[in-house]
Amino acid sequence: MRAIIVPHYGPPEVVETRDVPSPVVGPKHVLVRVFATTVTSGDWRVRSGKFPRGFGWIATLAIGMRGPRNAILGTEVSGIVEAVGSQVTGFKVGDAVFGFTGASMGGHAELCRFLETDGLLMPKPTNLTFEEAASISFGGTTAIDVLRRAKLKAGDRILIVGAAGGVGSSLVQLAKHIGAHVTGVCSASNVDFVRSLGADRVLDYANEDFTKDDARYDVIVDTAGTAPYARSKVVLKDGGRLGLVLATLGDNLGALTVGLFTRHKVLAGPVMVRADHMRELAQLAMTGAVKPVIGGRFEFEKIVEAHRLVETGHKRGSVVVSLDARATDR
Ligand SMILES: NC(=O)c1ccc[n+]([C@@H]2O[C@H](COP(=O)([O-])OP(=O)(O)OC[C@H]3O[C@@H](n4cnc5c(N)ncnc54)[C@H](OP(=O)(O)O)[C@@H]3O)[C@@H](O)[C@H]2O)c1
Repeated sequence: MRAIIVPHYGPPEVVETRDVPSPVVGPKHVLVRVFATTVTSGDWRVRSGKFPRGFGWIATLAIGMRGPRNAILGTEVSGIVEAVGSQVTGFKVGDAVFGFTGASMGGHAELCRFLETDGLLMPKPTNLTFEEAASISFGGTTAIDVLRRAKLKAGDRILIVGAAGGVGSSLVQLAKHIGAHVTGVCSASNVDFVRSLGADRVLDYANEDFTKDDARYDVIVDTAGTAPYARSKVVLKDGGRLGLVLATLGDNLGALTVGLFTRHKVLAGPVMVRADHMRELAQLAMTGAVKPVIGGRFEFEKIVEAHRLVETGHKRGSVVVSLDARATDR
């Protein structure tokens, strides 16, 4: 099969197209023929070897010293089931599916293997194209995890810093669906876009400092790494929660002590993607409560350009990569 390989950490141009052996299908495996995948901020980090301050040595120990041990990146896919193992009960050849591979990656290839028992492969919502279905899980499952841990509820006021990106655009939609009052922070060029996602208020970070504002929040989520606790605490209500999606190692460690000495809580650490997150996301997508946001489209052969766009740190929503003419079908 054709796959995009990252032989070592480096700029977008390090990616190479190669013919590699197809994954072997064991008894519990489902093999997916990939119609569409994405390049996420996670792929950018693993390709470049650039991790949040303090995490470099931990990440390279976990992922690989000179380059990613799993050299085929890509966490989000959609397509049709190509083959199933002898013990698979929930899928059959030809089913339309979407899935999240998580840390094992492997989505930037014509064929991608899932363990049925992980529960991270789902029937594709019938109202979404394959491209759209491929675009929702990285941001969507991150948003579900953070908002659940932050216990966001109807009537809460939430501030979302970095509201236009893959995670932020999912957070805005999900928080509105829950019934919260949403304030988004983004660049001037994305103010109208974030409002169109449902945000009640939008602040342009170049001209408006949320810490100088009168508003106070039950929940703040930082996806941009610019709202650590030291900065955000002044606008967190008594009992407020801060979710750090992007933060330094120091801010992650500091999070452990905040709850001991204040009435605030800081939620840090890597997002845990679970089967129930994927089930919830599939339902939210099916009902239209969370809509796909595609900020860039590329052919598989042009994936290097997708990496370049993601690396800017200013993409809107998700950047999709199509491998098959059926990627735009429902
Ligand atoms: N902890 C975890 O397990 C976990 C999970 C998922 C993602 N992440 C991390 O979370 C970060 C966000 O992920 P993503 O996929 O949403 O990235 P993304 O799609 O690249 O979005 C980043 C967003 O940040 C905004 N931004 C840049 N500078 C900003 C600033 N000074 N203030 C406010 N917003 C700013 C950009 O909007 P403008 O163009 O409007 O500036 C952009 O939309 C990444 O660094 C990723 O590695 C961590």
